[in-house]
Amino acid sequence: MGYDFTTAANSMDEFWMPFTPMRYFKEHPRVVVRSEGMYYYDSEGKEILDGIAGLWCVNAGHNNPRVKEAITAQLDALDYVSNFQYGHPTAFKAASRLCAVMPDAYNHVFFSNSGSEAVETALKIALSYHRMRGDGTRRVLIGRERSYHGVNFGGMSVGGIPYVRSTFGQLLPDVAHMPHTHDMDRNAFSRGLPDWGVHLADELEEMIYMHGEENVAAVIIEPVAGSTGILPPPKGYLEKLRAICDAHGILLIFDEVVTGFGRLGHMSAVDYFGVQPDIITMAKGLSNGTVPAGATFVTDEIYNAFMTGPKEAIELMHGYTYSGHPLAAAAIIGTLDAIQDDHILENARKMEGPLENAVHTLKDKPHVVDIRNIGTMAAIQLEDYHDHDDAAKYARDVSWELFRRGVMVRYSGVNLQICPPLIMNEGHIDQIVTSIGEVLDAQAA
Ligand SMILES: Cc1ncc(COP(=O)(O)O)c(C=O)c1O
Repeated sequence: MGYDFTTAANSMDEFWMPFTPMRYFKEHPRVVVRSEGMYYYDSEGKEILDGIAGLWCVNAGHNNPRVKEAITAQLDALDYVSNFQYGHPTAFKAASRLCAVMPDAYNHVFFSNSGSEAVETALKIALSYHRMRGDGTRRVLIGRERSYHGVNFGGMSVGGIPYVRSTFGQLLPDVAHMPHTHDMDRNAFSRGLPDWGVHLADELEEMIYMHGEENVAAVIIEPVAGSTGILPPPKGYLEKLRAICDAHGILLIFDEVVTGFGRLGHMSAVDYFGVQPDIITMAKGLSNGTVPAGATFVTDEIYNAFMTGPKEAIELMHGYTYSGHPLAAAAIIGTLDAIQDDHILENARKMEGPLENAVHTLKDKPHVVDIRNIGTMAAIQLEDYHDHDDAAKYARDVSWELFRRGVMVRYSGVNLQICPPLIMNEGHIDQIVTSIGEVLDAQAA
């Protein structure tokens, strides 16, 4: 759209894009050059309303001045220092500020650069925690079908979206998957938490029995499954998982890369559901989509288990060159300031009802087979296209046409996903939902 790819300098041949059908994209490029607030702009200055907060990350709005100022000031002072046995004040400050706004139990945070790395960190801490306590047989990790935990080998192994895993051959051993919680006959078109499905948590008991309690290290789930198409947990399900983990000495990990930092109107899903895991991962909204950042939060119980042995010895043999990078740490602090000063959480909570009401008006539109929502995230599931090899065609076509009409809404498989920046107002919601309805009507005509 309006961007010249014909010169060598602007060639599209070299950049192998993530999760993108390269040949299709080259024929139908979607390119933006600027962003501000709720909007992207293409090279001709056309406004594109951001219906997905970049990729669930720009919660405090694009180009947020507080985030920008924090990063710029940091760059003027210190570009980089390794946090391997050196340190800089911004990382310590970011960690303290984060832990202060997290639910009480989480007083320690390990920094990384992405959701995938935050997840790897969580899995490694969980496995290592049991070893530190002399419980080294505990090595089985239990994930869930249809879950997404990033693209590194640990996260991919516990993840449960078949097309994300299946082309990479053998993944980690000692991994099992609980059933997912979506059933079209029983909980389609639920608003918020579905009534049906709490019993699916009992499957965890069966799996523990199967593998032996003494062998199971951790259960990892997204409190709301995001990438697979927004599956809120059935009522009582998370509570039950917590109780089962407690009964068997198993750690519970919440992957909050999507749900954290405001998407459910709180800093963490813990505040939304009142269920406390042992470890929490975050990324995306953490730095408002500016500088890559990931975070893994743990309780005192876990952290203290590592703080034993000779004090000269490294307690956790893990870390990334850019863990606690000065610019990422500054971006986190700027984002926290923006969330507080711009009343982002309050606005997110205010928009939950209008978003829910708006998306459910699409129920009778062509191809729509389910609509799900919670907090400020919603999915509209379309029927599979009749060609099995291209089941997502309806959703993809809608997403591309929406962009042409000035609205960015992501498709993932057969689902359209809506999760606008948390500075949205009802007018933005109306524009997104009305546009989706118009495109669905137009495509069916
Ligand atoms: C729940 C969850 N975990 C992990 C990830 C991976 O994050 P990243 O793409 O930053 O590696 C994602 C990304 O969408 C996610 O939704």
